[in-house]
Amino acid sequence: MQSPIKCAITNFISNLLRKKNPDEFLEQSAQGGLKKTLNAFDLIILGISAIIGAGIFVMIGSAVIGTTERVGAGPALVLSISLVAIACIFPALCYAEFASMIPVSGSAYIYTFATMGEFAAWMMGWVLMLEYAIGTIAVAASWTGYLIKLFEGFPALPEFLRNPPVWMINDYQTALASGGHIPHILGIPICFNLPAMFVIGIICLVLLKGIQESANFAKIMVFVKVTVIALFIIVGAFYVRPENWVPFAPSGIKGILMGAFAIFYAYIGFDAISTAAEETKNPQKNLPIGLIGSLIICSVIYCLVTIVLTGMMPMSAIDLKAPIAHAMSFVGQDWFAGAIAIGALAGLTSVLLVLQFGTTRILYAMARDGFLPSIMKKVHPKYNTPWIITILSTVLMLIGSLFINMQVAAELAIFGTFSSFIIVCIGILILRKTEPNRPRPFKVPLCPWFPIIGIVFCSGLMIVALREVQTASKLFPLWLVIGIVIYFAYGYKSNRKQVAIQLKRLEESDSNNQQQTTV
Ligand code: ALA
Repeated sequence: MQSPIKCAITNFISNLLRKKNPDEFLEQSAQGGLKKTLNAFDLIILGISAIIGAGIFVMIGSAVIGTTERVGAGPALVLSISLVAIACIFPALCYAEFASMIPVSGSAYIYTFATMGEFAAWMMGWVLMLEYAIGTIAVAASWTGYLIKLFEGFPALPEFLRNPPVWMINDYQTALASGGHIPHILGIPICFNLPAMFVIGIICLVLLKGIQESANFAKIMVFVKVTVIALFIIVGAFYVRPENWVPFAPSGIKGILMGAFAIFYAYIGFDAISTAAEETKNPQKNLPIGLIGSLIICSVIYCLVTIVLTGMMPMSAIDLKAPIAHAMSFVGQDWFAGAIAIGALAGLTSVLLVLQFGTTRILYAMARDGFLPSIMKKVHPKYNTPWIITILSTVLMLIGSLFINMQVAAELAIFGTFSSFIIVCIGILILRKTEPNRPRPFKVPLCPWFPIIGIVFCSGLMIVALREVQTASKLFPLWLVIGIVIYFAYGYKSNRKQVAIQLKRLEESDSNNQQQTTV
């Protein structure tokens, strides 16, 4: 007989590893009855709308020239981009296999629950919050940079719009470090990023009403941002001076790797395509085309932008807040800088829509599984949207935007995304072993090698970066520890209650069935 302690430990471990059968998710989604309308082209548009944003409009600056914490790649960023594109293809294929096999929204969180169990699923959801919620803070801060760039182009606007006080357009840390005047109330410095908070608030309102209405708006924003980038490449090409590409890689291999880490931000979001699997026609063909197609298109765009930007000006002249628009001002094309600012604002807004939407849907899935208080599952009676989660997550993002600066938020989002890619690749390896016969409309070719290459690429870049970036590499483990504490303080217990309720329901329905059969 087992001792009570041994029994308790076995019980505890089996609870942590409790998996949800993929069929349960499929049943849940079948009740939703979504129509299969999306083709490969729609998926590519969705991908581009989620991918192209702050990464190429803003982070590219720090990826080229570096920050106080990490070196930049210089013009060799084009090599960093190719490296990241290759690193992303393997997890993208894994996403395609999972998404075609378990075509439900909830993305990597759901895949982890199906393969590695309850605790890993919670941690995955928690890490995805870095990618989506903290990522939102970085994109919103970038939005501020381009808004000011746009205002600068209108001399008729009042001075406080063209040159706003530092305490109204920055987080605490950046505002205090800027050395500008900061007002105090009761000795407390008052700083907030007003435009960033404004845009986060507006998107929250859109999401409360339902994203369907904004789908066409999102398509227009994709068109605007791609047109503006294409114009930048064409017009900027005339100002390229090859001597600006020398030295090509001023910080050598380390610079190229750190550039790859920084520009990785520009690739975040393609996994959002997998959330549309449930509504995709012929998913075995269209999902991989959508995922790989949008990765390739964005990579080509990113390489061209990098070549032009680094050729237009010496590295030291590249701006950190609005590098693409600033490049046009640098060559005397001020009117065009304004047009780029509009395109960037459209692009950043479409990314914010995807990130904030993702935040609410992942949290909703977690609340449905008993990880969060059940009040968070509440859906608005009129708009059919998870309104409590939407408002609560927005409030938390607004608070976060006061304290976390753009670079750190972006780096944290990158660590979160690396972790989710690695876990998804591991998940594919596990499910191929545990459920080899489950129907897989799309299969990762050359398994196990492709998932393993994905794991090696992503963890390699992550390890190199963890040693270099100071602030984010301390905050990332702290984030994981907070996640573990919340799980054991709340999620674990509340899940036991949820499982007990489900078992009771099953027993009741079994006994009802038996009674009916007897009658
Ligand atoms: N990839 C997205 C961006 O660059 C998150 O803004």
